[in-house]
Amino acid sequence: MAVREILILPDKRLRLVSEPIKRVDAGIRKLVEDLFETMYAAPGIGLAAIQVGIAKRIFTADLSKKEEDRQPQVFINPEITWASEEKSVREEGCLSIPDYYEDIERSAAMKVKYLDLDGKTQETEAKDLFAACIQHEIDHLNGVLFIDYLSKLKRDRITKKFTKAAKTAKKVEA
Ligand code: NI
Repeated sequence: MAVREILILPDKRLRLVSEPIKRVDAGIRKLVEDLFETMYAAPGIGLAAIQVGIAKRIFTADLSKKEEDRQPQVFINPEITWASEEKSVREEGCLSIPDYYEDIERSAAMKVKYLDLDGKTQETEAKDLFAACIQHEIDHLNGVLFIDYLSKLKRDRITKKFTKAAKTAKKVEA
């Protein structure tokens, strides 16, 4: 297992549309182990493969609280099969846009169909934070970031800030 480097805005790879996984094999299971280790180290409640530069339709999640046992969950080729008309707003952040949080409106409940680590089809219903997390991570698989739901003014401002930070970091490395 290894902690992988998380891509940060404005890395262009975050805008890629990830490819479906054809077979859940040893390579995928190894990737999942790395995703969990990277997600727990960050720490975060969800991590999509594209956030470590792998354009495959897969993400990990764990919404357990600190004092609880871990509840690792893997979603392979996830598809939303139903989303409630009812919306809810909650504050979101993203490991690829560190230390930035905004209120985002999403469906309050939804159903997701996906493959598990045995390659078996599963369907889960989610609501509240879990529903928001799944929608956020599926967005990543489609190259969508939560800042895309903000006003252009806010989005441009945060993108500019991260672009400037990336340039400064490069200069320091050189
Ligand atoms: Ni994210």
